[in-house]
Amino acid sequence: MIIAKTISELQQALSTSRKEGKTIGFVPTMGNLHQGHLSLVEKAKEVADVVVVSIFVNPTQFGPNEDFDSYPRTFDADCEKLDSQSTDIVFAPSVDEVYPGYASNKTQPSLTKVHVEQLGKQHCGASRPGHFDGVTTIVSKLFNMVRPDIAVFGQKDFQQITIIRRMVQDLNIPVNIISAPILREENGLAMSSRNGYLSASEKDQAAGIYRILTWAKQQLEEHKLSFDEVEQSAVKQLNDQGFRVDYFNVSNADTLQVAETSDKNLVILVAAFLGKVRLIDNIQVTL
Ligand code: PAJ
Repeated sequence: MIIAKTISELQQALSTSRKEGKTIGFVPTMGNLHQGHLSLVEKAKEVADVVVVSIFVNPTQFGPNEDFDSYPRTFDADCEKLDSQSTDIVFAPSVDEVYPGYASNKTQPSLTKVHVEQLGKQHCGASRPGHFDGVTTIVSKLFNMVRPDIAVFGQKDFQQITIIRRMVQDLNIPVNIISAPILREENGLAMSSRNGYLSASEKDQAAGIYRILTWAKQQLEEHKLSFDEVEQSAVKQLNDQGFRVDYFNVSNADTLQVAETSDKNLVILVAAFLGKVRLIDNIQVTL
């Protein structure tokens, strides 16, 4: 496994594969890897000849009061996991390699941003202003550095993958976006780097999110409650279980807008705080 810390090291590592016409699969991550991330690497291995995984905690997608500084950084353990997964290249650039001058001028790391209209407004975008611009900008930059044929993203971040697909379509970026299912703990809690902030008993409590999502899906499938009733009851259940709900939205799975009764492909998106930890999850529903 090659560890590239600069863009030129990355491009050197990829040059032979490119000349040989091998396909390049790419999994962007912020590290602190768990089984969910590794399932994306496995998927990338299935569909591409060479797999690049990036580890980069991207400052521009964190708000001023969010956990950029304390975000878990476990580079050595991550590399061990990736090596045992037969990853070909780990790309782990510094902040200054990606955003030259960032350290000396935090407010203006770059004059250019990639912004996808509409899709980033609601849900996580409403409570994390600028977050998705940070994501689309870094993902486009990484795409330009790695130039992958295929990139794999998790459905765990449903709004993120929807926005990235749209960006790729609108900007004619020559990459095939593949999505991979959400990996969960045995109790149903969606795996996440942020679960590391939770105590053992909070992890049990956090599994309530998935139970309520599953309950909501069933209500919709069996036409027992309206979309509004499901949302209201789910918010109440989450509050009763000690969460502070950011949103619980029954949405159109393609547009991410509020679902209409004629919609068939739905996604229920949720974000809720347990203490200071913000957890997100979702479930798809086909009517
Ligand atoms: P990160 O949170 O590290 O996630 C990297 C990838 O792993 C994303 O595609 C995410 O959806 C996927 N993932 C996370 N938890 C998962 C789970 N339980 N099951 C399946 N896939 C899971 O998402 C980001 O980083 C960043 O925003 C990034 C795209 C790297 C841009 O900075």
